[in-house]
This record gives sequence, structure tokens and C-alpha cells, in this order.
Amino acid sequence: MTNIILSGCNGKMGQVISRLVSDMDDVNILFGYDINTDKKWDYEVYSDFADAPEGADVVIDFSHPACFDTIVDYCRSTKTALVMATTGLSNEQKQMLTELSGDVAVFFSANMSLGVNLLISLVKKAASLLEDSFDIEIIEKHHNQKIDAPSGTALMIADEIADTLTNAPEYVYDRHAVRKKRTKNEIGIQAVRGGTIVGEHDVIFAGNDEIIEIKHTAMSKEVFAVGSIKAAKFITGKPAGMYDMKNIMDV
Ligand SMILES: NC(=O)c1ccc[n+]([C@@H]2O[C@H](COP(=O)([O-])OP(=O)(O)OC[C@H]3O[C@@H](n4cnc5c(N)ncnc54)[C@H](O)[C@@H]3O)[C@@H](O)[C@H]2O)c1
Repeated sequence: MTNIILSGCNGKMGQVISRLVSDMDDVNILFGYDINTDKKWDYEVYSDFADAPEGADVVIDFSHPACFDTIVDYCRSTKTALVMATTGLSNEQKQMLTELSGDVAVFFSANMSLGVNLLISLVKKAASLLEDSFDIEIIEKHHNQKIDAPSGTALMIADEIADTLTNAPEYVYDRHAVRKKRTKNEIGIQAVRGGTIVGEHDVIFAGNDEIIEIKHTAMSKEVFAVGSIKAAKFITGKPAGMYDMKNIMDV
């Protein structure tokens, strides 16, 4: 049995995870953590870890960067593993996750869907083969409630492609401000916001007279919830260190 603390339990993702876990025999939500302490499921919700019981294996965090420090301090002091899914973290916060991974197992991914992580391995392969003759552009689309742009996933895809390329690319987010041709060295990253789009990421390799597009569409938030529960089970009992979806896909 994997005992989870669900941080951000009363948010959209927290509610999807609560529903999925309620049908599982091998995962249990020990308690929820949220500033909104409404009890909606059969677990208690706390806004202060000091009031909560002990004995969890792992924290799954889908909350807000504002409670990042509290979560990291809790995991360090109680030696609890962490699945960090909240996006929009600063570079300093990402560095703090790396430091935490010296003490406990930390699973971090800006996108918990297995499909997006497969897309990343495909676009890395494409980028290494096509880099000399194709222009690379990323278009991401999300619902009209999303605050950060471009998405953490679009940046994760760009960073993974950049790792593959011989020359470090320049990320270009806005072609409106400057009137000049695209250079070979760019990755264009565009954000579209509207309606209830759950999440689309389209990587375009545009060459002479041919275009390759590799695209992932999330049809519901369940794909992220399923991935994060898989991640929680995966890191439970693992030694301290940094883990991501590649570790799960390699199994
Ligand atoms: N990694 C992924 O695959 C993935 C997928 C979907 C969403 N996300 C990210 O997960 C996060 C949550 O997404 P959501 O759609 O559920 O958001 P949401 O706004 O619906 O839920 C956030 C929850 O966190 C709680 N919260 C906010 N600030 C808090 C604080 N300071 N202390 C305690 N609780 C606090 C809120 O009360 C709310 O219940 C976002 O950062 C989102 O981008 C990541």
C-alpha cells in the first residue's frame, strides 16, 4: 500500500486524483493538504502539516509555487518522497528540488502524461537527424484559465531538444517585436489560450518542401493524474535521488 499526502487536494487535479485513488486498492490518501480545508472525500484536509498525522510514503503536489517551501521543508524533515507536479517554479525552486533529492527520492516532471514523455523521446531523435536542414517550432495550446505562458511542458520539450542539438538554440517567443527573418539557430515557441483546451503540444520540423509534425493532445486531466499516481508508486521506497518519466518508461 502506498500512503499519499495529496497537496492541492481541493484543486482541479487534486479532485481527479482523489476520484481515481478511491477506486484503487494499492494506494491510499492519508490526508490532503490545502489552504481550502473543505472535506470532500473520506480523508481529512489540513492547511498546516503540524496538525496532520505521520506515516505517509510520498507527497503528490499539484498546488501552487507559493507553498513550495512548506512542501520541501516537510519532505526533508520527515524523509518523505516527493512527486512535484506544480508548474511555474522558479530556477531557484528547481535548484531546491535538486538539493532535496540528496535526502529523499524526488520525482519532477512539468508533464506527468506518459504520452508527452514519449513525444519528447521522438522529437529528440528527429532533432538530432534533422537539425542541419529543418527549422523547429513548438506550438502549445491551453484553456483560458492558464496563467503561465509558454507552458512548462513546451519549455521542457525545448530544453530536451536543445540538449540534443550541436549548437545551443535561441528560444524566440514573440515575432511581433522584431522585423527580421528567422535564423537557423532558433526554436520558436508560441502559446495559444482559449476555451477548455486541456493541453496540446505540437513540434514542427519544417524543411524544404516537407514538414514533419509530432503532436500530443491531452483529452482530459486524467492523463496527468494517472501519471502522477504511477510516479508516486514508482518512487516509494526508492533511494534518494532525482527521478522523472524517463525512469518509468525505461522499466
Ligand atoms: N505536471 C503536470 O503534468 C501538471 C498537469 C496539470 C496541472 N499541473 C500544475 O499543477 C498545479 C495545480 O493545477 P490545478 O489545475 O489543480 O490548479 P487549481 O488552482 O485548480 O488547484 C490548486 C490547489 O492548490 C491550493 N493552493 C493554492 N495555493 C496554496 C497554498 N499556498 N497552500 C496550500 N494550498 C494551496 C488551492 O486551494 C487549490 O485547491 C498547477 O501548477 C498546474 O500548472 C501540472
